[in-house]
Amino acid sequence: MIRPILRHGAEVLHAPAAPVVDVTPDVQTLIDDMIQTMYAAPGIGLAATQVGVAKRIFVADISVGRNAADLVAFINPEFVERDGMQLEDEGCLSVPGFNATVARPSRVVLKGLDRHGHEQTIEGTGLLARCFQHEMDHLDGMVFVDRLRGLQKDLIVRKIKKLARLGKW
Ligand code: NI
Repeated sequence: MIRPILRHGAEVLHAPAAPVVDVTPDVQTLIDDMIQTMYAAPGIGLAATQVGVAKRIFVADISVGRNAADLVAFINPEFVERDGMQLEDEGCLSVPGFNATVARPSRVVLKGLDRHGHEQTIEGTGLLARCFQHEMDHLDGMVFVDRLRGLQKDLIVRKIKKLARLGKW
């Protein structure tokens, strides 16, 4: 089932999510829905908080469905390693219409559970590293706009507030 994607301003997007205690059938269903929702958007990653569930779960597929092996689901992910630096343009399904350059490490290793509750460790470089960090931020209640500074951040936040006032957000 495709679930509605919440936008910047929704409370659940701005608060840290709680760890998953048990990988229950409900969690399986949530992950299935998140994958479907991510592909429908389309996007390369989606965190549970974006569909209104404050749990530490995200899905990602930098091939957007073109390569089945690229589909990743992470439950309770944690950083094991982070190094390097990359500067690339970034956007978010919860902040449609806005993009900005965000500095991120160029390589990360994440450890957590896969969708069946088995331990997995995945290394990401380049776009995958960026995607992993963007989704990890969501689980900590942070959107990419929060990573920006000064004028750039103010401008986006002001535009979002204006759109919200006009009922267009
Ligand atoms: Ni996002």
